[in-house]
Amino acid sequence: MIKTGDNRPIGVFDSGLGGLTAVATLMALLPGEDICYLGDTGRVPYGGRSRETIIEYVRQDIEFLLGQEIKAIVVACGTGSAVALDQLRDQYPVPIYGVLESAVEAAIQRTATGRIGIIGTEATIASGAYERLLGANGEFQLISRACPLFVPLVENGRIHPGDVVIETVVAEYLAPFAEGEVDTLILGCTHYPLLERVISRFLGPGVTLVSSGAAAAEFVAQTLAEQGLLAADRAAGSHRYFVTDRVAGFERLASLFLQQNVSGKVEKISLG
Ligand code: DGL
Repeated sequence: MIKTGDNRPIGVFDSGLGGLTAVATLMALLPGEDICYLGDTGRVPYGGRSRETIIEYVRQDIEFLLGQEIKAIVVACGTGSAVALDQLRDQYPVPIYGVLESAVEAAIQRTATGRIGIIGTEATIASGAYERLLGANGEFQLISRACPLFVPLVENGRIHPGDVVIETVVAEYLAPFAEGEVDTLILGCTHYPLLERVISRFLGPGVTLVSSGAAAAEFVAQTLAEQGLLAADRAAGSHRYFVTDRVAGFERLASLFLQQNVSGKVEKISLG
């Protein structure tokens, strides 16, 4: 039997807006849960930084959320998950979930040809973490590529089909993944699903896109339910957002992406 009764929020963080792709799925699956989101917008992007810096930033993100009395943490950041999580995961008193394993699981379920593409930040691709998870049995052909311009473009709202800047950059980065080369593409950075419409239009219907944030959120929702950690008797949870830079830009883009007004729920904080 599934027990319920932990009313503490779920903590979710990313370097910026990207983790909202996990939050959107959590809200849809678990509408009664409180969610506490941190976007380290003052220091985004993480993906071009050194391993030591990424580990330190992720540590500060986790410690901030622990101060909000959360019951679990979702590292809704491909870079943080690939580079820092192995080192940090066991050091804290709450479960900490990354985005890699569930994205890999989803890709394995969806591929028919075994030809899987992986895109992510420079740090994620350089870590080789996806290849390690997928390559263990040699069953898959993998093509991976870093797409460092995607995150700054997303953070600046350049996400719409028809925007010549994002369409040009997508065509340049994603040419190796054209239909026939892969049948499944892991969006290994949680910002990238915000580009889903532009990416699908370029790659066509023969390439299935896997959102690492959404896949992780599905896994976390199921795991919390199995462990009896869901909130009890709540129709609608409350949502709070913390950022490390200007509130206004985040409010605008987050409201657009989540299809709900987050004005008044976003607070600026300092880390480190
Ligand atoms: N959304 C992050 C990721 O999944 C952020 C990338 C970055 O800050 O460079 O990797």
